[in-house]
Amino acid sequence: MKRVFIDTDGEFDDVMALILALKSSDLSVEGISTLSGIRNLRDSTDDVLNTVELMGKKDIPVGEGLAASMSQDLTEERKNILKIWKSGGRSSTMATRRPGIKPVREDGVSLMIRKIMEAPCEVTLITLGALTNVASALLREPRIASKVNEIYSMGGAVLVPGNTTPVAEFNIWGDPLAARIFFNSGMHITMIGLETYYQPVLSKEEWDRVKVANDATRYCFDNFDPWFGYLVGLHPDWKGGLQIGDALTIGAVIDPSLMKVRRCFVDVETRGELSIGQTVAYGLSRRHPAPKEPNTDLTIDCDWKRFNELFLKRVTS
Ligand code: RIB
Ligand code: CA
Repeated sequence: MKRVFIDTDGEFDDVMALILALKSSDLSVEGISTLSGIRNLRDSTDDVLNTVELMGKKDIPVGEGLAASMSQDLTEERKNILKIWKSGGRSSTMATRRPGIKPVREDGVSLMIRKIMEAPCEVTLITLGALTNVASALLREPRIASKVNEIYSMGGAVLVPGNTTPVAEFNIWGDPLAARIFFNSGMHITMIGLETYYQPVLSKEEWDRVKVANDATRYCFDNFDPWFGYLVGLHPDWKGGLQIGDALTIGAVIDPSLMKVRRCFVDVETRGELSIGQTVAYGLSRRHPAPKEPNTDLTIDCDWKRFNELFLKRVTS
């Protein structure tokens, strides 16, 4: 059984990732920290609390993390997201349900540090949002870099275009300085970037099954209705289907053999006029060798059929 700690910005695919993790008897979720993302911290935290509560896992500590990025202004991004929710009939991005449980008193960053330090070299850290909480934890307690067991991180785009700018993926763009601290911390990271993030897609019929699987999936579809509709509309070729997103990161932790990786050194652009938040990899070609010991296993392909089966089997069981 793998002990995991999950850091999340509570989006639709984060909720799917949490449900998969909480349904997996080969994972023990030791704690969860929340942070803001394309929506504010309250919305992210409420979604996580609702998910944990509706999955009947109230004993898992949820720590509220940081509300603001270290290095990016998300005001415009959030205004655009709000427009999407409004066009779906909502007045705000607030959760449709008030959680019946609260975050623990300890803040998310302290909870992350404590869970890693209490079980040296046993906890796998999973990041599904910007790296603000993790970078803050590294600055506050640098020893976590050598005390964490493994790190699986959704973020970045090396070999494919970005989804927030032509070269940057949202979780890195959302806090490039934090991402730079993360990649230069000495930790070895398995990176689930956009190379693999968009590969596992469920059909409309499969999502219809997920929707009615349990109270947490029902809540998720009700809450994210405008967002889900918007995302589905971005991919008309999938005919009502959508990628599973962050949940693939959980799949990679459960079964690393799902992923094909290439070892390299990843760094992050923090100042570029056009390229802020770009993940730059060295060591993928002889012309640009890694300047230091490789810090990343970049996932370049995945067995998405096998992952889809795993996801559907566990989430709908
Ligand atoms: O770019 C995709 C990532 O941004 C996902 O983790 C999604 O949930 C958002 O955080
Ligand atoms: Ca996320």
